[in-house]
Amino acid sequence: MHNHIRNFSIAVICSLAVVLGIGGWARPYDAAAEKRSEKKTAGAPRDAREPSVADGEYLTTNQGVRMADDNNSLKAGQRGPTLMEDFHFREKMTHFDHERMPERVVHPRGSAAHGYFQVYKSLAKYSKAAVLTDPSVKTPVFVRFSVVNSSLGTADTVRDARGFATKFYTEEGVWDLVGNNIPVFFIQDAIKFPDVVHAFKPEPHTDMPQGSTAHNSFWDFISLTPESMHMVMWIMSDRAIPRSYRMMDGFGVHTFRLVNDQGKSTFVKFHWKPLLGVHSLVWDEAQQLAGRDPDFHRRDLWEAIENKSYPEYELALQLLPEEEQDKLGIDILDPTKIWPEDAVPLQRVGKLTLNRNPENFFAETEQVAFHPGHLVPGIDVTDDPLLQGRLFSYLDTQLNRFGTPNFVQLPINQPKAQVNNFQQDGIMRYTNRSGPANYEPNSLSRTPDEAPANKDGYAHYPAPVNGKKVRERSKTFDDHYSQASLFYNSLTLPEQEHIRQALQFELAKVSDKNSAAHR
Ligand code: HEM
Repeated sequence: MHNHIRNFSIAVICSLAVVLGIGGWARPYDAAAEKRSEKKTAGAPRDAREPSVADGEYLTTNQGVRMADDNNSLKAGQRGPTLMEDFHFREKMTHFDHERMPERVVHPRGSAAHGYFQVYKSLAKYSKAAVLTDPSVKTPVFVRFSVVNSSLGTADTVRDARGFATKFYTEEGVWDLVGNNIPVFFIQDAIKFPDVVHAFKPEPHTDMPQGSTAHNSFWDFISLTPESMHMVMWIMSDRAIPRSYRMMDGFGVHTFRLVNDQGKSTFVKFHWKPLLGVHSLVWDEAQQLAGRDPDFHRRDLWEAIENKSYPEYELALQLLPEEEQDKLGIDILDPTKIWPEDAVPLQRVGKLTLNRNPENFFAETEQVAFHPGHLVPGIDVTDDPLLQGRLFSYLDTQLNRFGTPNFVQLPINQPKAQVNNFQQDGIMRYTNRSGPANYEPNSLSRTPDEAPANKDGYAHYPAPVNGKKVRERSKTFDDHYSQASLFYNSLTLPEQEHIRQALQFELAKVSDKNSAAHR
């Protein structure tokens, strides 16, 4: 570090000297000479599993060779062409040329933090998941908040839903709760997801508008998709311009199951409740912030944690015994519906605290990979047709994003629980199992073996399934307007006015079919 500061100061003085014309005085710093005068220590060979980007004193190539000059490429003469031979230059430039990975197809812009989750008291009556049953355990978590529609570089304060994805590194493996700050979704069936995303993203012929649903294709799709009406009310409300990631709700959206050690299942909706309360910006504030500080939410989260003002959220559950699933007058498999809280009250069961910023944005925030199918024993899915499709989509898209299934070995994605299996090789595989047996069953090594349910093996809840193979929507999914009205009517008058203004703004951007915008 000292050397670094010294080099930097010398560099600044040298440049000043050149600019001020004090020629002879400004001798360039000779890194090679200093290296020669220093006693070299061989050092022990590095453990193959240690990261190779260390905090050593000298710049090196990726092969660990010290670099004498990182400011001038190798040229044929001081003013001549650069030589092909310059492997230092080529290594550095090639690496730079490949720095980007594809951004997430949705939720590309995000900010994240580490922390922990602790349940207040055991929920063993409902779930056997260790993370929900042992109040003495602080389960490490990584939470990524995100903007759904916008690309990596758009402003934080655009009108949009926000992602609220939590990775719990439980002792029984990873559990991901991949939620949003809005409790319902646009569509009922996953097969419509590519359509709704195409419709709300920038239009294909112009790549406009960025980070906004105020355009033809979004409202065209909405006008033809009545099931989206409830979500549209939320998206046009102040919930879609949160003041801070610390001040917004999170929702699992779908109906999940909790399963106890007797195999009894209870339907559940997951909620996060910020201890600072839910606060929003008003539209004009959001607009100004987008220009003045496009990183408003990112900065707010980062600074709160640096200042030890740790964001906190309570996990709240709505629990519904299987026998009572018809009592709400809605289909609990329909992700465009909430469970009214007067019928199924929220129970606050534990607390999430975010107390550590990532050390490196790319390694952690960008490379984290969530998946609604990352579940631990005691937490299970339902037949919600949106959730069912999500169970396919996340691993599939991550294969595209990372280019290899081995992203699971990146530190941010590794479970804290042991990983024992015979999967191997592939691009960027970091470690493989040792020994001769890489298949199951085998008689060469006795382990690893299958774990029965009483040894914490994951057993899918044996939900009965019957029916004909059909491409149909259940009639119980048909009511698209009651809860949309319920939501609007539950708001205060200023909040309702904000929705009207948002709709006016958005719809004013929609043009006639024959206008230039459609060509
Ligand atoms: C069929 C419906 C859906 C599909 C196919 C889908 C698909 C995706 C895909 C492909 C990604 C990018 C993942 C990555 O590159 O790592 C993603 C991210 C995400 N999705 Fe969904 N999604 C769906 C619905 C939802 C719903 C209903 C929610 C909220 C409950 C949600 C919450 C999220 C969040 C929070 C992220 C960002 C995760 C992160 O921070 O890395 N998605 N989704």
